[in-house]
Amino acid sequence: MKKLNVIPAPEQVELLGGTVNATVFDRRTDLTDESGACGEEGYAIRIDDQGVTVTASTACGFFRAEQTIKQLRESAELPCLLINDRPACAFRCFHIDSARHMQSVDELKKLIDAAALFKFNRMHWHLSDDQGFRIESERFPLLNTVGSYRDSSDFGGEHFNVRYGGYYTKAEIRDVVAYCAERYIEVIPELDVPGHTTAIIASYPALSCRRLAIPLETKQGIFNNLLCAGSEETFAFLFELLDEIAELFPSEYIHLGGDEAPKTYWEQCPKCRAKKAELGLENFEQLQGWFTNRLIAHLAEKGKKAIVWNESLNGDNLDESATVQMWLDRRGKSAVWANRGGSVIASPFGAYYCDYPYSMTPVKKTYDFEPAFKGVAPIMKKHVIGVTVTLWTEYIRDFDRLCYLAFPRFAAVAERGWIKAEQTDYESFRRRFAAVTPLLNRMGIKPAPVSDWDPTNRRRLIDTVRFFKDKIDPQTIRNSVGSTNQ
Ligand code: ACM
Ligand code: ZN
Repeated sequence: MKKLNVIPAPEQVELLGGTVNATVFDRRTDLTDESGACGEEGYAIRIDDQGVTVTASTACGFFRAEQTIKQLRESAELPCLLINDRPACAFRCFHIDSARHMQSVDELKKLIDAAALFKFNRMHWHLSDDQGFRIESERFPLLNTVGSYRDSSDFGGEHFNVRYGGYYTKAEIRDVVAYCAERYIEVIPELDVPGHTTAIIASYPALSCRRLAIPLETKQGIFNNLLCAGSEETFAFLFELLDEIAELFPSEYIHLGGDEAPKTYWEQCPKCRAKKAELGLENFEQLQGWFTNRLIAHLAEKGKKAIVWNESLNGDNLDESATVQMWLDRRGKSAVWANRGGSVIASPFGAYYCDYPYSMTPVKKTYDFEPAFKGVAPIMKKHVIGVTVTLWTEYIRDFDRLCYLAFPRFAAVAERGWIKAEQTDYESFRRRFAAVTPLLNRMGIKPAPVSDWDPTNRRRLIDTVRFFKDKIDPQTIRNSVGSTNQ
């Protein structure tokens, strides 16, 4: 049967014979299934010539059903049918980097509406990095007066000689969190530590190993300044900041980052060296594991769980309660983590990174990536709790460019997180995305035209080489090539 024009494709569709038009939705009945049989996010929709009946066990289930109906309304004629639908993965997340370039609250809301349409249930909000700190802090005001502004922007070799910055006020953050909650999307803030912390160190230099005053970074890249792991001042600061962040975000999770943290300065720092010796650790990766575990224990006291990028596994001492976000993992440690029963989220660099051009990451590559990724044993697949599609913004300065890169790839990942592996159908996805595009346009989202989605191999090679040559510094390339898992 031809699939309905809905993304993600519903799990079961049974044709009842006959057709109706979209006015059928004007005759709608909602039934709450008190038994809970529909699950947290599932629902059923029956459409026949008598009208429409929506059944769900929760308010969230009704909301997810509404997103299906919004898409069905785009069709002039509909078959009479029965839909039974529920997600395969519990965790279906989109990431947005508001540190390198900020989005206005109105733009974020447009993005959130589009994400809700495709039934995402988490937003990973990247709010701190080397180039800017974006959360209003009353406890540490220099994070805003100093850490939220950089003197210029030099991403991808383009120089903008203007001060850039800002931060989301607590009122704005609460507004975004509430907007998401109405759409059954939980907002997970990321405080990226111990690396990607130049904005924090620029604000409070005593938190770094060298204790030197430094400016915010204006380029993309991986930088040596880390928060000092040997100093109690660092932990006092982070505990207090995490408490302030936890107050703003009612989410189950807080993301603690942990990616791209070179140990050069830790290796030179007397305090970090002394801490490593005192703890009897074998290497500085283990010091990062210990550092992260202290923050995880602090969050646990507040009833919160941590997500960390996969580099946090490098010391082999990460607390087992952590959820690991796999993005670039040549050593396959994320798969081992899942195989030992740890929770993992799939965010493969080569497939889910939407900041890269379609030449590098065609839509088919995004769609075809199997969330229960290579190396995860078949019986341990349930430990891959879901997917996060990422949108880093070093090269994304405006909302139209953001939408062009995010859509349709966001929709492709949303579908793969919702459906079962055996239901994947890329050709049908292309057709269904075309059907939903007018609705997205009316929501203020302009996706990439289908002619840009899957360039020829020749085009891919030319454009990818040009992109890397023009935009990416050699260290980032070294970091990116040679990945086997992704
Ligand atoms: C990352 O892309 N640095 C997680
Ligand atoms: Zn140190």
